[in-house]
Amino acid sequence: MAKKPKFDVIIFGATSFVGDIITAYMMKQYGVSGKVAWAVAGRSESKLAALKEKHGAEALDHIIADASDETALKQMVTQAKVILSTVGPYALYGEPLVKACVEAGTDYCDLAGEVQWYKCMMDKYAATAEKTGARIVHCSGYDSIPSDMGVYYLQQHAQEKLGSYCNQVDMRVKKIKGAASGGTIASMINITKEAVKDPALRKELANPYSICPADHDFTVRQDNISGAVFDGDYDAWIAPFVMAAVNTRVVHRTNALMDNAYGTDFKYSEAMIMGKGSKGKSRARMLSFGLGAFMVSAALPPTRWVLEKFVVTKPGDGPSPEDQENGLYDMRFIGKTKEGGQIKVKVYGDKDPGYGSTAKIISEAALCLAGLPKKDKAGGFWTPASAFGQSLIDNLTAHAGLTFEVLDD
Ligand SMILES: NC(=O)c1ccc[n+]([C@@H]2O[C@H](COP(=O)([O-])OP(=O)(O)OC[C@H]3O[C@@H](n4cnc5c(N)ncnc54)[C@H](OP(=O)(O)O)[C@@H]3O)[C@@H](O)[C@H]2O)c1
Repeated sequence: MAKKPKFDVIIFGATSFVGDIITAYMMKQYGVSGKVAWAVAGRSESKLAALKEKHGAEALDHIIADASDETALKQMVTQAKVILSTVGPYALYGEPLVKACVEAGTDYCDLAGEVQWYKCMMDKYAATAEKTGARIVHCSGYDSIPSDMGVYYLQQHAQEKLGSYCNQVDMRVKKIKGAASGGTIASMINITKEAVKDPALRKELANPYSICPADHDFTVRQDNISGAVFDGDYDAWIAPFVMAAVNTRVVHRTNALMDNAYGTDFKYSEAMIMGKGSKGKSRARMLSFGLGAFMVSAALPPTRWVLEKFVVTKPGDGPSPEDQENGLYDMRFIGKTKEGGQIKVKVYGDKDPGYGSTAKIISEAALCLAGLPKKDKAGGFWTPASAFGQSLIDNLTAHAGLTFEVLDD
């Protein structure tokens, strides 16, 4: 029989901006010698020592591994049930670790919001993961867990309340407070840079089913909210939501992995509510224009240079502790059945979405993964909802400051 790994979870990239917050959360919630055996890892001995000292975690084990050092990664992944990685942009640094986990049969989760990389990893490693039993769960942060679990929760309650799944769900961000970090912006700039060079990638990024299994049954055209649009459900104007391109893909993959549980004609969209009347309309237009301008600037080398040098947060930086504490998000889901039934769900998270909340979300996802018996879930590339179902909702509401609620009509 194989030896039991020493750790439940190793946090790789614990010295990142988000890794620091994850370490604080794990210390507060689980301590050093409690029921969870965990360790931190990264490429710099001195940074890891400083991290442990900062959090009073000197007794915590740490492991040194560079993201490109296959031997060190191999040694690290055999010591844990789950590797939680924050080393990004993943498209630049992530592959050797996914490969090491897949080959060793070690489970893995990350904060990758890079759909093109997600697909590339699946294409290369899904067959091996199925053989070794490694469960890979990308997108285990703010993108895409509140969206993926929100739709899952809505569909479970639709079954109870309306007697069927909703073939249309629309998520609208009602409120969101929190800034992006340097690491996230670096990842967004990297995707744009890759897309400019590669027409096939641009086509892939435009495909809502790009990470669904190749033999999926979906043909329905999805609504892509790319500008200011009036939304009759809210009597308000909506604008594009920056994470929609990732979240919608993950939700469709969940549907495919759960045997089309939401229907083969399932439609899903995400957007931000910008307000009513002419004020709402001009806010929606401004946000749409701002997002477009960011993408264009990130695509062109001279303006990208200016963005990276002077405008955006640098990797390693992010929102202040006060901004994390004062952050929040309130997401509303409306589901509709073919028969005309309707259900409304609210998903709320405390702290800023990208960091304060993400750190708690991915920690709990990693622990769900560590507790998921291999016999209950085969190896492969899973989404959060298809891997964990209700158990993740339970963990998130018990520990991570999220609430899931069905609203009255
Ligand atoms: N999905 C979400 O909701 C969400 C939210 C937040 C962040 N993210 C993503 O998470 C990632 C991290 O974000 P962040 O803002 O925390 O980034 P960050 O502060 O820039 O940290 C990047 C980390 O990568 C490590 N690293 C870089 N090259 C390495 C190598 N060769 N070997 C080992 N480690 C290496 C860095 O190590 P050193 O400390 O030694 O430099 C650092 O720990 C980004 O990809 C971001 O897009 C996603």
